[in-house]
Amino acid sequence: MHYLVTGGAGYIGSHMVKLLLKQGFQVTVVDDLSSGHRDAVLGGELIVHDFADRALLDQLFTERNFDGVFHFASKILVGESVSNPAKYYRANSFATLTLLEAMRDHGLNHLVFSSTAAVYGEPQSIPIDEAHPKVPVNPYGASKLMVEMMMSDFQRAHGLRYVALRYFNAAGADAEGLLGECHEPETHLIPLALKAVLGKLPPLKLFGDDYDTPDGTCIRDYIHVEDLCAAHLLAMQYMKKGGDSAAFNLGNGAGYSVKQVIDTVASVSGKLVPFELAPRREGDPARLVADASRANGVLQWAPIHNDLETIIRHAWQWELKVAAQAQGKII
Ligand SMILES: NC(=O)c1ccc[n+]([C@@H]2O[C@H](COP(=O)([O-])OP(=O)(O)OC[C@H]3O[C@@H](n4cnc5c(N)ncnc54)[C@H](O)[C@@H]3O)[C@@H](O)[C@H]2O)c1
Repeated sequence: MHYLVTGGAGYIGSHMVKLLLKQGFQVTVVDDLSSGHRDAVLGGELIVHDFADRALLDQLFTERNFDGVFHFASKILVGESVSNPAKYYRANSFATLTLLEAMRDHGLNHLVFSSTAAVYGEPQSIPIDEAHPKVPVNPYGASKLMVEMMMSDFQRAHGLRYVALRYFNAAGADAEGLLGECHEPETHLIPLALKAVLGKLPPLKLFGDDYDTPDGTCIRDYIHVEDLCAAHLLAMQYMKKGGDSAAFNLGNGAGYSVKQVIDTVASVSGKLVPFELAPRREGDPARLVADASRANGVLQWAPIHNDLETIIRHAWQWELKVAAQAQGKII
């Protein structure tokens, strides 16, 4: 079996490549390294290129016999999508249309797509299941929802099989310490807190402590990156066994507050987390927690690393390794 992984040099994609290689699959990665890292691709072949180049896709799909596509490549900054929506509609929606057309024309029918909880917008009920209304409140979420709509139309018209995986908050790192999160700029809470502990970033900003939650801080659903990747493999296998195209939430169903994250980072690192209170951010709901029972039931997916301590321990191990490498030490 041979899979194409777009965005395989990025945070989640690189963990997926590692999992596929470990399972004995052949892997081709297309990543333009706009936010990814060459050394995060632990094997297979890396083609440094825009995945939405139709000529490249035609060449790849003619020369290689792919069994499916894992499509991670994307722009991912919510704030940037608000200030520069065209970039997101072009890079996420329009570029994926090119991929879908190339797959259609070459008879390639199985696609696992990285969607997001941002397709839901403001939660109207918690936990959020897949039937929840989809009213994205930013162009990032809208650009992903458009892809879901395109995939659904391609299924009807051309028989595409797809699974859209709506991740909540991807977190953690490879348990073996070979890979981890490396976004630039970093916007995710756990790496921001860990980097603040290491003095690599300024004190963490805690946006609001007067929400209607037990400790007043926002609650989010963190899912270990290895559990996310396991779900991708199950999703591909589900389609190969004839499963219908579908969307699945990926989360733990157990939310953790920002204060719980700060406390756990402190206990794992053995150091206080420097943080300062800041005003609430516009559009930040108090709680975002997934109902992932469809993925649990249909894909037989059960997260293994479903406690915050493990997620943060693995992320901390990665941050220590990166810090040591920056100082010329090998660990
Ligand atoms: N990180 C999260 O918590 C989270 C949550 C929900 C959804 N997602 C989705 O998961 C996917 C992966 O996210 P991530 O955190 O690993 O992001 P990332 O930025 O680390 O990885 C994205 C990768 O795609 C590559 N890329 C971007 N545009 C490309 C293009 N046109 N051609 C080729 N390569 C391109 C980048 O170089 C990078 O390696 C994205 O689709 C994102 O929207 C992530």
